[in-house]
Amino acid sequence: MKVLIATEKPFAPIAVDGIRKEVEEAGYELALLEKYAEKSQLLEAVADADALIIRSDVIDKEVFDAAKSLKIVVRAGAGYDNVDLEAATSHGVCVMNTPGQNANAVAELAFGLMIMAVRNFYNGKSGSELKGKKLGIHAYGNVGRNVARIAKGVGMDIYAYDAYCPKAAMEADGVKPVDSAEELYATCNVVSLHIPATAETKNSINYDLVNRMPKNGLLVNTARKEVINEEELLRLMEDRPDLKYVTDIMPAHHEEFLSRFAGRYFSTPKKMGAQTAEANINAGIAAAKQIVAFFKDGCEKFRVNK
Ligand code: 3PG
Repeated sequence: MKVLIATEKPFAPIAVDGIRKEVEEAGYELALLEKYAEKSQLLEAVADADALIIRSDVIDKEVFDAAKSLKIVVRAGAGYDNVDLEAATSHGVCVMNTPGQNANAVAELAFGLMIMAVRNFYNGKSGSELKGKKLGIHAYGNVGRNVARIAKGVGMDIYAYDAYCPKAAMEADGVKPVDSAEELYATCNVVSLHIPATAETKNSINYDLVNRMPKNGLLVNTARKEVINEEELLRLMEDRPDLKYVTDIMPAHHEEFLSRFAGRYFSTPKKMGAQTAEANINAGIAAAKQIVAFFKDGCEKFRVNK
C-alpha cells in the first residue's frame, strides 16, 4: 500500500516525520512529492498511489484518471474546493478533510493581519486599537470559534453570522449572533471572513455588503479569494477611502489593489494561515490516521464526497 504526500507547499519536516511514522507503523510505504512545479510531476507520482495526502493542491479529473490505484484522498486542512468531488466519486475514490486541525493557526494569522492593519502597516503613524471594537465573524465554524476565543482576550465586542450554526452555540461562547450577513457588516468595525468557497459563496462579498461597514471598516480574509467580488471591492475601495482590506489569499487583481490602495491593502505572498509546525503536525498526522483507519477498519468519518 503506497501513501503519497503531494504538497506544492510543503509541510514542516517534523510533520512529514510524524506522517511517516503513522504510515510505516501501519505497514505501508510513504512517498513524497514536494514543491512540484509542473502538473506532469503530480500525474506521474499519483500513478501507483493508493492514498493521497494533499493541501491546496488541485486534484481534478485528470489527476483521478492518472491515479489508477487511488482509493482515498485526504485534504490535510479544512477547505476541499480544490478537489473535484464528482470526479472522485465517479472514480470510486473517497475524499476526506481534517476539520479543525489547522483552525487555531488560521485564527492567529487573522489577528496578525488585523493588528497590522489597525497600526497602519507599522508605518510609524498613530493607529487604533482592537479593544472595544466590534468584530464580525462571518461563518462560525472551527476557525470562527478560534477567532472568537482570541477576540475575547483582546477585549473586542464579538458578533457572528452563520446560517448553519445554531445561535445558542454562539451565545454559549459569549458571541452575539446576528440574523444576516448584511446586519453583520452594518454593525462591525472589523469583519473576518471564515466562509468556504462554494457555488453559494463565490463572489458573495460584494460592493453592497462591504459598503454597509461603518467608517474606517476593515475586512480581513483568511478564507478564500473566490468569495470576494474583486471588481466590486476595487470600485468600493475607490469610493470609500476609509476602508482597508487585508488578505492571506492573494487576489487575482493584486497589483491593482497594491498600486491603487497603498496603505490600505496587504496580501501575504502565499497563503500562510496554516503554515505553522503545529498546524502541519495536527492536520498531517490526522490525515495519516484517517487513511490507516480507512484501510484497516473501513472508517469513512470525515468523508466529504457522496
Ligand atoms: C484550509 O483550508 O485548511 C486552509 O486554507 C489551509 O490551506 P493550506 O493547507 O493550503 O495552507
